[in-house]
Amino acid sequence: MRIAVFSTCSYDQEFLEKYNTGHQLIFFEQALNLDNAALTKAFDAVCLFVNDRGDKDVLSALAENGVKLLLLRCAGFNNIDLEAAEEFGIKILRVPAYSPEAVAEHAMAMILTLNRKTHKAYNRVREGNFSLESLMGFNLHNSKVALIGTGKIGKAMYKILKGFGCRISAFDPYPDNDLRADGLVYAGLDEVMEDAEIVSLHCPLTDQSFHMINEQRLRYFKKGAMLVNTSRGALVHTADVIDSLKSGHLGYLALDVYEQESALFFHDLSGEVIQDDLIARLISFPNVLITSHQGFFTQEAMQQIAEITFSNADAFALGKAMTNEIKP
Ligand code: NAI
Repeated sequence: MRIAVFSTCSYDQEFLEKYNTGHQLIFFEQALNLDNAALTKAFDAVCLFVNDRGDKDVLSALAENGVKLLLLRCAGFNNIDLEAAEEFGIKILRVPAYSPEAVAEHAMAMILTLNRKTHKAYNRVREGNFSLESLMGFNLHNSKVALIGTGKIGKAMYKILKGFGCRISAFDPYPDNDLRADGLVYAGLDEVMEDAEIVSLHCPLTDQSFHMINEQRLRYFKKGAMLVNTSRGALVHTADVIDSLKSGHLGYLALDVYEQESALFFHDLSGEVIQDDLIARLISFPNVLITSHQGFFTQEAMQQIAEITFSNADAFALGKAMTNEIKP
């Protein structure tokens, strides 16, 4: 097939070329949107990532251009209008899991960094400042952690936290029986948040979970608690979180995702004036750590993404069973 790959970075091209099973790949650096959808003329498929747009207007343009397949090289599909895709006869295949451990390990790295302030210590020591002032953290051993969502990534996170000796509780509308048997206690969303020193989000973005962390819910947080979001930016109402940080109620914030990330993440904007005042404010806090959607970014995950993307493409091209298809 002729496949247009959008939002291409050097590492995407490297892994997709390495594991290509014989398709013709054309790489575009831009994210797909209505303005550049015309580029997809004469392509059988488009290969998309988290910040490409797949709303009704874009999908209509793709269908007019003859595109029959969306290959998502990610798990989440909140950026795609599934009903519209079905209406236009476009199939959607995704990569449902690619190293859940990669994301969980990154969430843990963020917790450790924010707590023990290794990012600040690194800079201090390089400047000959060996003071410990304001670097104090807290023991993760025995601290209470709430997991919101215990699917593949939440489960991997549970295992890591257990290894650290944390006391873990969880909320998930569909509790996991294996984790329950292992001693994980499930409770209501507000109940698990109320009790936790760390709240880590591992659920998908849906109509139900949109802005689940807002002003009202932040009141349930323990004073000084840490919020970790490695799932999707819009789970969090950013302005409300900023207010809570300013008042000192929320103690720490770790974000690998951000609601308006599509205009920022994956780009080098170091020479430009950042126009997004919310992210600029967040960056200014000493107790906030932001990474630009890199939770997935390990060699193992990139290999799995590329391999599964091409097995999806092959299944479609050869009329085989499409186990990774998503429908409305
Ligand atoms: P999964 O589908 O295996 O698990 C999601 C879990 O969340 C399920 O158990 C589900 O019952 C639960 N859930 C659904 N709605 C919920 C709600 N309102 N409250 C609490 N739990 C709810 O998904 P997986 O693989 O664990 O991924 C989780 C999320 O992580 C993805 O949706 C995606 O947004 C994000 N992600 C982030 C990456 C990154 O690089 N930062 C990479 C991959 C995924």
